[in-house]
Amino acid sequence: MQLDDIDRVGVVGAGTMGNGIAQVAAASGYDVVMRDVEQQFVSAGFDDIDESLGRLVARDELTRSEADRARDRIEGTTDLADLSDCDLVVEAVTEDMDVKQSVFEDLSVTCRTETVLATNTSTLSITTIASVVDRPERVLGLHFMNPVPVMKGVEVVVGEKTGTDTLTLGHAFAKDLGKETWEADDKPGFVVNRVLMPWINEGIRAYDEGVAGMADIDRGLTLGTNVPMGPLELADHIGLDVVLDASETLHEELGDRYKPAYLLKRKVAAGDLGKKTGTGFYEYE
Ligand code: CAA
Repeated sequence: MQLDDIDRVGVVGAGTMGNGIAQVAAASGYDVVMRDVEQQFVSAGFDDIDESLGRLVARDELTRSEADRARDRIEGTTDLADLSDCDLVVEAVTEDMDVKQSVFEDLSVTCRTETVLATNTSTLSITTIASVVDRPERVLGLHFMNPVPVMKGVEVVVGEKTGTDTLTLGHAFAKDLGKETWEADDKPGFVVNRVLMPWINEGIRAYDEGVAGMADIDRGLTLGTNVPMGPLELADHIGLDVVLDASETLHEELGDRYKPAYLLKRKVAAGDLGKKTGTGFYEYE
C-alpha cells in the first residue's frame, strides 16, 4: 500500500491525543472515523476539536471554511466496526497493555489485512501490542506529541516484526499531516520519553528537596536551556497520571535510574493530575 491508497483513517480513542490526531488528519484531507467507547467521550473529543480549530482560525493558520471542511470530514462513533473500511488506523487509548491488545485483537478482525495499524503508545512495547494480531508486519508506533495540532514531531517506532513498507508509509503519512519524523527502535520510552521522563522527575525531586521553588525551577530550565516549558509546567501539561504511568513502565524495564519521584506519586494519589483537573504543581482556572 502507498500513501495515495490511504483515504480513510480510523482513530481509536477520542481523548486529548486521539482527537488531536483525528483533527490533523481531517485538516490534511483524510476522511476520519473517531471512535470511543461512550458517546460522551466522542462528544468531548469533538468539543476539543472545535476549540482547537477555532484557535487555528484565530491565528490565520486555517480559514473558517477549511476548518469547517475538516470538521465535516470527521465522523464520530462508538462502534469499532465502523472502522472496517479504514486504510490506516491509529490507536490512542489508555496506556494499558491489556486494553491496547484487546483493541488490536478487535482491529485485526474488523479491518482488512492490508490496513496499517499504528499505536500512539508513548512507552509500551510495539512488538508486544502487535503480538496479538495476525499481521504484525502491518503494525508500527506513530507517537504524536501533545498538543498534536501544534507540535511538529512524530516518533516512528519500529517493532520487531514491522515491515519496511509499513515503516515507509508511517513516515509518509506523518509528513502528509505536516509533521516531521524520526525513527526509534522498540525499546522502553523510545527516544522522547526515555530522555524526557527522567528530566521531569529530576525537576520534581529538585523542588521536593528544596533546591528552588517551583517557578524558579521552571524559569531556570526555560531561560537556561530555551525549552518552552520547565519540567513542572510540562508535567502539568502532559498530565501527572500520564507521567507517572510512563515513569513506572520505564522503571520496571530499565531499573532504578527511572524511579518516579515520590512527590509525583503523592500528587497522583491525591487526584491532582495537572491542567486537566485544575490542580497539579500549579493551579489552573
Ligand atoms: N490547538 C491549536 N492551537 C493551540 C493548541 C491546540 N490544542 N494549544 C496551543 N495552541 C496555540 C495557541 O492558540 C497559541 O497561539 P498564539 O501564539 O497565536 O496565541 C500558541 O499555540 C501558543 O499557545 P499558548 O499561548 O496557549 O501557550 P504557550 O505559548 O505556552 O504554548 C504550548 C503552549 C504550544 C503547549 C507550548 O508551551 C509548548 O510547546 N510546550 C511544550 C509542549 C511539549 O513539550 N509537548 C510534548 C510533551 S511530551 C509528549 O507529548 C509525549 C508523551 O508521550 C508524554
